[in-house]
Amino acid sequence: MRKYIVMVRLTVCALWGVFLLCVFRPAEGYSFQEEWYAAKLLSEPSFGHPIQNVTIAVGREGVLICNVKHLGKYKVAWVRAEDQTILSLHTRVVTHNNRVSVTHDDSETWKLRIRPVKESDRGCYMCQINTQILKSQKGCLDVFVPPDILNEDTSGDMSVSEGENTTLVCKAAGHPTPRIVWRREDGHPIMVRRNLREYNKVETYNGSSLHFWRLDRRQMGAYLCIASNDIPPAVSKRISLSVNFAPVIKVPNQLLGAPVATDVQLECYVEAYPNTVNYWIKNRGEMLLNGTKYWIKEERSGYKVYMWLVIRSFSSSDSGTYNCVSTNSLGKAEGTLRLYEIKVGPDHHNNNVIVGGLAEPARGHRSSTLNSAAFVSPCLIAVTSTLAELWWR
Ligand SMILES: *[C@@H]1O[C@H](CO)[C@@H](O)[C@H](O)[C@H]1NC(C)=O
Ligand SMILES: *[C@@H]1O[C@H](CO)[C@@H](O)[C@H](O)[C@H]1NC(C)=O
Ligand SMILES: *[C@@H]1O[C@H](CO)[C@@H](O)[C@H](O)[C@H]1NC(C)=O
Ligand SMILES: *[C@@H]1O[C@H](CO)[C@@H](O)[C@H](O)[C@H]1NC(C)=O
Repeated sequence: MRKYIVMVRLTVCALWGVFLLCVFRPAEGYSFQEEWYAAKLLSEPSFGHPIQNVTIAVGREGVLICNVKHLGKYKVAWVRAEDQTILSLHTRVVTHNNRVSVTHDDSETWKLRIRPVKESDRGCYMCQINTQILKSQKGCLDVFVPPDILNEDTSGDMSVSEGENTTLVCKAAGHPTPRIVWRREDGHPIMVRRNLREYNKVETYNGSSLHFWRLDRRQMGAYLCIASNDIPPAVSKRISLSVNFAPVIKVPNQLLGAPVATDVQLECYVEAYPNTVNYWIKNRGEMLLNGTKYWIKEERSGYKVYMWLVIRSFSSSDSGTYNCVSTNSLGKAEGTLRLYEIKVGPDHHNNNVIVGGLAEPARGHRSSTLNSAAFVSPCLIAVTSTLAELWWR
């Protein structure tokens, strides 16, 4: 009986054992497997964070960083992606490019350094680990280049006849592609023709071509083409645009009367380019010479010339026709003035300079150019004062 009970107990125990074995075995088996995989993974290297892309200005040092975990017995190589050129194997540089070097802070951080970086270094690079199945990671280097004006593709100084069409061109290299902006050197706005009569005035003009349709003399000047991208310094080129045209003369006061013994001033305004030779003649005869009788003065401002002739101590023999003459390579122009004597009472003899005409608006503007502030107004005849007004606008 006792023997029987022991047998039953043993049987229950055995069954229980089998049961336990059956229940827990698969679980234990799975955990073994996991550990096995983990062990295998531990023995194989892997990448940490991805390689950060780098943007660097030409001439500086470009550095790409590859982060490797558990490198173990394996080795790291840097390869240029474009042509699969191997640059370095582990700590050794294998390329003949002496701008390339490799450093590793520990076995985790592997740096490819290129110094000084060139435009040709732009591209992607691979960091590789020589595991049985090659592990590879890619990072890219962008090389910024400051702008540079391409002189062979950019306009030089230009000399063009008025009324013709012309284009100023400015080309620049650089990365990113530079923007081109034009402005006038003298700070005046650029006149862009809208139609035959109207212009748009702009401080700056964007674009590599600045087109002039039917060139106007007011568009003459020095233009700056400025090339810039995100990399300093911006560069510029000065292009001078000359607009050639034959002289044109305006005479604000064509008819002048003067009392004897006064000084009389005759004026002509010339527009011309290139520069003119200017002189005065009397009665279609001799050229008047600067001296004690005649005082000749001229002032230039761009393509404008202001001509003055002062006749000292007017006498009746000074009456007659005077011409201001202006010539340049493109032509000749002359203005005509007539001077006659006015009889006045003795009280009016005050020996002041007479400025031709009653050009009141013009007088104010000009008072500084000649020290002849006084006027003998009763003796003057305004013929074409409006002309003078127009001129000075
Ligand atoms: C780096 O640049 C490449 C190409 O421009 C791009 O495909 C990649 O996603 C970039 N990587 C990172 C981390 O930004
Ligand atoms: C200037 O260009 C306009 C339109 O483009 C043309 O009609 C004109 O003939 C050109 N003028 C000259 C002088 O070439
Ligand atoms: C010209 O370019 C500048 C900068 O590149 C920009 O700020 C400006 O708006 C542009 N002007 C025009 C008229 O396109
Ligand atoms: C004429 O002479 C004066 C000085 O006597 C001088 O200031 C002026 O510039 C001269 N004019 C010319 C055209 O040479």
